[in-house]
Amino acid sequence: MSRNSALSRGEVVYAEWARRIKRSALQEMLSIASGPDILSLALGLPAPELFPTAALLDAASRVLSTDRNSLQYSPPGRSLKTRIVELMATRGVECSENQVFLTCGAQQGMNLLTRLLLDPHGQLVTEEMSYPGFLQVVEPYQPEILAVPTDIRTGMDIDFLEDVLDSGARPAFIYSVTDGHNPLGVSLSPEKRKRLVDIARYHNAPIIEDDAYGFLNYGPSLHPPLRSLDDEMVYYVGSFSKILAPSLRVGWIVAPEAMVSRLSIVKEASDIDTSTFAQRVVLAYLETGALPGHLELLRREYGGRRDAMIAALEKYFPEDARWSTPDSGVFVWVELGVSVDMPSLLRAAVEDEKVAFIPGHAFYAGKGRFEKACMRLNYSNRGVDAIEEGVKRLGRVIGNLAVSSGCEEFACQLAGSG
Ligand SMILES: Cc1ncc(COP(=O)(O)O)c(C=O)c1O
Repeated sequence: MSRNSALSRGEVVYAEWARRIKRSALQEMLSIASGPDILSLALGLPAPELFPTAALLDAASRVLSTDRNSLQYSPPGRSLKTRIVELMATRGVECSENQVFLTCGAQQGMNLLTRLLLDPHGQLVTEEMSYPGFLQVVEPYQPEILAVPTDIRTGMDIDFLEDVLDSGARPAFIYSVTDGHNPLGVSLSPEKRKRLVDIARYHNAPIIEDDAYGFLNYGPSLHPPLRSLDDEMVYYVGSFSKILAPSLRVGWIVAPEAMVSRLSIVKEASDIDTSTFAQRVVLAYLETGALPGHLELLRREYGGRRDAMIAALEKYFPEDARWSTPDSGVFVWVELGVSVDMPSLLRAAVEDEKVAFIPGHAFYAGKGRFEKACMRLNYSNRGVDAIEEGVKRLGRVIGNLAVSSGCEEFACQLAGSG
């Protein structure tokens, strides 16, 4: 009997992994939070008013008026790679054009690397709280996820990771968001960066370093990424989404030269080309020399919004609440320090106060259920007044629904960081 014979007409037979897929909490939130009357602190969207629209319009019109082939299928542009090599140098990374591979954003970078590295049901390491877009990338492989805890001030728990690897785990890779972690907002300490790379080398476990936020720092420069410590074991993923505009869909991987030809084969199977037009617009923009000034603007503006969010949390959130103070990225992670049913809190926030956030469990990659009363708040997409208003409304809903003090263990981890 064929596997389809018991089906009624029109019934679709999905692949085994696809039968279990659900919309992520972030996708759900995109539809809820995009309502015109919702003040959303939920998604990690850049500020639209800061997009360099005039400069991109100039760049696009220059490209279209001088270069018909910008609308053609085309091999990846070497000149853009040269600009990316220069950009990486500002992050303390030395690399060459032959090690740069152009992608449609960081998301595709992770996708292609995963396709090259992960076997079905293979092992991988990620943090207990992880970017859901990464978890979606690996889901079709039905991997064994080895989830490592994170210290909110110093990043991934490297001792725990070392124990996992010493006990015989053989992960296809370790996934790390080294700076501006999504959702925790933490940046890995310099000591941990070095240890992580040493351990990866010792155990021959490569690292996918997702640096989607690495150019957004709000204090002194960030520490150089893991890729600056090792050019063989670390596969770096970068993106113009957060520093220019996400809809351009231009990003890059810095990988060992020998891996680049394999990457181009899996990319061709996936989407043939990164949009030649988008690449050339980004190149034309970079050639004007405008990026450093634009980065300064983003750092100043987002840094001010981060400060406004922290000030509002101090004013309106429960006394026992604790939060991260990010040096990079676009998220603050908040542990409420009270016992509250998070689905009810989200419903009340959206329906009664017209304000949206993402509950902590949406990021959980560990085993079992995530019961802590935590939330991720975004500060890049709204101005300071809206941020204060949004946090004030959230404080009000929490005040109405909170029962008693809870989450003590996590509160200890966060103590003093608020
Ligand atoms: C940690 C992280 N990595 C990757 C991405 C995807 O970035 P891109 O737009 O470059 O695909 C995001 C998007 O929010 C992110 O938060």
